[in-house]
Amino acid sequence: MTNNIYPVVWQDERVLLIDQTKLPLEYNLVAISRYEDMALAIKNMIVRGAPAIGVAAGYGMYLGAREIQTDDGKIFLQELQKIAVILRETRPTAVNLFWAISRMLKIAHESIGNVTEIKANLLATAQQIQLEDLQTCQAIGDHGLAVLPKKPDKLTILTHCNTGSLATAGYGTALGVIRSAWRDHRLARVYADETRPRLQGAKLTAWECVQEQIPVTVITDGMAAHCMQQGMIDGVIVGADRIAVNGDTANKIGTYSLAVVAKSHNVPFFVAAPISTIDFELENGSQIPIEERHPSEIYQVGETVICPPGVEFYNPAFDVTPANLITAIITEKGAFHPDELLAKLKR
Ligand code: MRU
Repeated sequence: MTNNIYPVVWQDERVLLIDQTKLPLEYNLVAISRYEDMALAIKNMIVRGAPAIGVAAGYGMYLGAREIQTDDGKIFLQELQKIAVILRETRPTAVNLFWAISRMLKIAHESIGNVTEIKANLLATAQQIQLEDLQTCQAIGDHGLAVLPKKPDKLTILTHCNTGSLATAGYGTALGVIRSAWRDHRLARVYADETRPRLQGAKLTAWECVQEQIPVTVITDGMAAHCMQQGMIDGVIVGADRIAVNGDTANKIGTYSLAVVAKSHNVPFFVAAPISTIDFELENGSQIPIEERHPSEIYQVGETVICPPGVEFYNPAFDVTPANLITAIITEKGAFHPDELLAKLKR
């Protein structure tokens, strides 16, 4: 089952992005023709979510390549490296960004032919990254179904942030599993944490569920523990922005506390992510760079300032959930206990 929400679309020689900063009140498409604009779109979270950032970065590399005015292959590759640097600087945590840029650079270096042919290969690779992510998410959905708790009743699943079509090429990772469970009549309801401070749960996950008529209840982040204590939640599924080889997982801020609470209530805690989100260079989660964003995300709600002057703020956008709190990591190759990750998936 697919749906019609595609956050990144290649059309008429430019990229169309759904402006995720405006949803759910407005549905706007932003046309991107230059790589600097793609860098800004990633930085400003017009496009966000680890796999979607990877797809956008792939097209960003192609747009940059298209702008390079030379027939000299060596100069072309040097200029492309500079574009890669600018795209890499947009956001630090989601490894899919770096993974996609490296893949594009590799293709450029390995392409045989003139600059025009290299550019054509780059566009084909960006499109391939997008297509693969869509297929990957559907496989994650299938593997997720195999590990969800088996109960006579339909399940109630809690999720955090947005991990749906908007955060990927389409379909979603954690929300993809939820979508698959809904399709298979195994889901009663999804509880979506609002996800302070950017509210991806309240704004984006809720919007996607409404589009697909999946019953959804939005709660504030602090209510999740209460819901688990009341026995209302059968399982938690979240996405990931970067996974170290020991299974430690960086995801949206608030994920770690959710995992701690799930453990203390014997609620299974699943991470759903493509293999492109695993950073095989990192031994553990302490090495994952955590993005810190502007304090206005905390002290402002819309245009309204809600805190008094003289207050300090700390605004990490992600946290790291230790592997020992994770029941299984669901990938396109299957669901694994975090301890098995390296052995089963090493590229
Ligand atoms: O800051 P964002 O909105 O890019 O963060 C997104 C998340 O943390 C998602 O949960 C994560 O990328 C998984 S996306 C399938």
